[in-house]
Amino acid sequence: MDSNQLIAFLVILVTLLLQGNNNTVVEAQLRTDFYLSSCPLLLPTVRTAVRNNVLREPRMGASLLRLFYLDCFVNGCDGSILLKDTSTFTGEQNAVSNHNSARGFNVIDDIKSLVERVCPGVVSCADILTIAARDSVSMLGGPFWEVLLGRRDAITASQAAANSSIPLPTSSLSELISSFSQHGLTLRDLVALSGAHTIGQAQCRNFRTRIYNGGNINPTFATLRQQTCPIISGSGDENLAPLDFLTPFVFDNSYFVNLMSQRGLLHSDQELFNGGSTDAIVREYSLNLLNFRRDFRSAMVKMSMLSPLTGSDGEVRQHCGRIN
Ligand code: HEM
Ligand SMILES: *[C@@H]1O[C@H](CO)[C@@H](O)[C@H](O)[C@H]1NC(C)=O
Repeated sequence: MDSNQLIAFLVILVTLLLQGNNNTVVEAQLRTDFYLSSCPLLLPTVRTAVRNNVLREPRMGASLLRLFYLDCFVNGCDGSILLKDTSTFTGEQNAVSNHNSARGFNVIDDIKSLVERVCPGVVSCADILTIAARDSVSMLGGPFWEVLLGRRDAITASQAAANSSIPLPTSSLSELISSFSQHGLTLRDLVALSGAHTIGQAQCRNFRTRIYNGGNINPTFATLRQQTCPIISGSGDENLAPLDFLTPFVFDNSYFVNLMSQRGLLHSDQELFNGGSTDAIVREYSLNLLNFRRDFRSAMVKMSMLSPLTGSDGEVRQHCGRIN
């Protein structure tokens, strides 16, 4: 073999190895039994803590679910949302969608210290958030599924990435579709995951324009929401209203029933049922709770696999709010 042949041979070998990585290793490293021997008490520990917090404050279930989504949509489910700003990077917590809005950080910190007590240095914050989101959903009456585990924690976070990766409540349907498809999520995934808005609350500043500008909104519903969301920008900005008008603390399909009667709270919610390509899926979920539960579950698992750090990438953080 001359040196050219040797180089070609090495290039092919490296290419094959890299392809092998892309195809198999990432998914193979997330497993349902990842902590089976290294932390057998992990799942009951997280579940009990989530239950206690949700019993104390039902909204916390919604907040933890949203925190997981906000994490996954920015460079994958790597716990980056949990990092506070430092002198070397401006993190995600003060990005436009998260500032004065994302909540539940203290609960995740508390669960992390409980987990550290039973198995120190083993479980990533990204995995704790994944489990907490799943338990929040099931505790409020939603579906249950096995979580894939083995994520590692990011050692940096990017406010710029958070600003550009998370869709806004002013988004149009085509903006929502394009954002979700950039994350490998389909139309059905978009509609199913948006069904998370069957629980939790939103601030007046995020729906003021919708309730005062007419358009595709039930007028009685608009008047009701105006009672606690003044028209003047800056007044009552933080006043809360339930995202699901009918059953704000139950993980059911009434979010879709609301959309069918023009009672979506956010502009982006109603965009899913406004004469476009997602109308039929909204109708299906409003009529068929089981289809919604099935699709929500599989879309959550799909979202949970967004570019995880695995193997020896990243780290297992000691405290979720800062890198080691
Ligand atoms: C489709 C694009 C989405 C947009 C534009 C959007 C936007 C928003 C906004 C503006 C709020 C209210 C925040 C506030 O007022 O402080 C909110 C709350 C919430 N979002 Fe979304 N969201 C989207 C998708 C999702 C997804 C995929 C999930 C989870 C799977 C999710 C889960 C939640 C939950 C549970 C809440 C309530 C949080 C609480 O009460 O603390 N959202 N969302
Ligand atoms: C992110 O958005 C916020 C709010 O609009 C803005 O203040 C901040 O400068 C943006 N950050 C970056 C890095 O673009």
